[in-house]
Amino acid sequence: MNVKLLKKKAGEVVADVVAIGVLEGQELSGAVERLPAALRTVVSARAKRTHFKGKIAATLVVQTERGDIVLVGVGDGSMSEHWRRAASAARNAAAAVRASTLAFALDNAGKPADLIGAVLEGLLLAGYSFDRYRTAKKDGYRGPRTLLLSAPSLKDDAHDRDTVRRTETVCEAVAMARDLVNEMSTVKTPSHLASVARTLAQRGRVRCEVWQGARLRREKMNGILAVSAGSRNPGALIKLVYTPRRRARARIAIVGKGITFDSGGLSLKQAKSMETMKMDMSGAALVLGLMKALPALDPSVEVHGFIAAAENMPGQGAQKPGDVIRYRNGVTVEVLNTDAEGRLVLGDALCLATETEPGCIIDAATLTGACMVALGTRVGGILGNDQELIDRLRACAIEAGEQLWQLPLIEDYVEDIRSNVADIKNVGSGYAGTISAALFLRSFVGKTKWAHLDIAGPAFTERPLPYTPKGGTGFGLRTLLAYLESMG
Ligand code: BES
Ligand code: MN
Ligand code: ZN
Repeated sequence: MNVKLLKKKAGEVVADVVAIGVLEGQELSGAVERLPAALRTVVSARAKRTHFKGKIAATLVVQTERGDIVLVGVGDGSMSEHWRRAASAARNAAAAVRASTLAFALDNAGKPADLIGAVLEGLLLAGYSFDRYRTAKKDGYRGPRTLLLSAPSLKDDAHDRDTVRRTETVCEAVAMARDLVNEMSTVKTPSHLASVARTLAQRGRVRCEVWQGARLRREKMNGILAVSAGSRNPGALIKLVYTPRRRARARIAIVGKGITFDSGGLSLKQAKSMETMKMDMSGAALVLGLMKALPALDPSVEVHGFIAAAENMPGQGAQKPGDVIRYRNGVTVEVLNTDAEGRLVLGDALCLATETEPGCIIDAATLTGACMVALGTRVGGILGNDQELIDRLRACAIEAGEQLWQLPLIEDYVEDIRSNVADIKNVGSGYAGTISAALFLRSFVGKTKWAHLDIAGPAFTERPLPYTPKGGTGFGLRTLLAYLESMG
């Protein structure tokens, strides 16, 4: 993608489509005042006739001999998310008319320079598609290839260009995470995730270590081993460490659930529930996306990424309900439902993360269907033992346009995960499934500050969303990048 910043009025920009962000309720004469007079009249008349008011992501296309003008609503324009969604709508309108150059005019924004990131993010993320398995389309058109951001007050200085470069980095990482989630499970085995990790570590400042087979046994990664036992694809513990160029201000551990396919194991899922279970490694994709972006973003924090990768299958040797797992930290777990496998593999990774004595641990996991019942598909659950950490993550999520809602860790529900034969069991009472899963995870973090993101709902979408086509969304990655950048 070719991205350029232009210090120009909307009317002076040459492009197949010029999109103009319009604030809701703004006098349209103001919104289009920088267009040539003849055009201004046409656009205003059309807007009036169609009752175009500037509602968020609403579009109005006006054809002119010099190209199309697209008015795009940005609501009150007060949050970066308004501009992301508007940019996404503009990109889709431009693609619908097969534009090869799309300009987004920020003439009506208060401070255009502050919106470059959000608008470009919306444009780039909306342009994502996964077509590895699609035979070529007739005309091969893939959307606009040149993106122009314009405003009379833009400077296009080093700072603005840096914003463009960082946004491109972030969007490339999100695209990689989406690609991994969208890839079929037969390809993206735990070993495949490990090789992706190794490739990321071929660049400077990222190191990678992979444990499989005998090493997993020696290191007592018994959760990963138990879940992998029913699969012919061996599990893996993947560790990635990002070391900053400057002195690190903090050490943060990020843990991702990497179930490359969740059949449920012997507690087999229904066919319908299995359809999307290639997405059960979205937490792992998030960790890999972070490690792709961090060297370019260069925050001064040490980041230890852990991926607990396994395929949950009911094959020969599969773990059975009633089995007990003894963890590296001494905790014993009775497995009553092999479909509650995410917490089993995360136990191993959380033990390791805790041992590195990080300032905090953040885990991301498509952990419970219960979280989808509680919060739906647009909102992730956040739980943990440190309110300050949770509040900071929630603030970063708002900035990223990713919604997180806190659920409580109810002490009384610890009873629900008590086992008759071991310390804890891997299922709760059947109620508050997201909370009992989080309480389970808490057994592996000791006193370390910890936040858990249950991304079962928003990690994958079965309908197109603003700047997010169907499939893997990359949810959580931009929030965590914002968090890590805010640390140093
Ligand atoms: N990967 C699933 C959770 C999930 C469900 C993610 C739907 C995305 C969409 C997880 O491993 C699982 O199966 N959880 C069980 C737990 C239960 C057996 C205690 C669930 O939510 O039903
Ligand atoms: Mn499961
Ligand atoms: Zn799962």
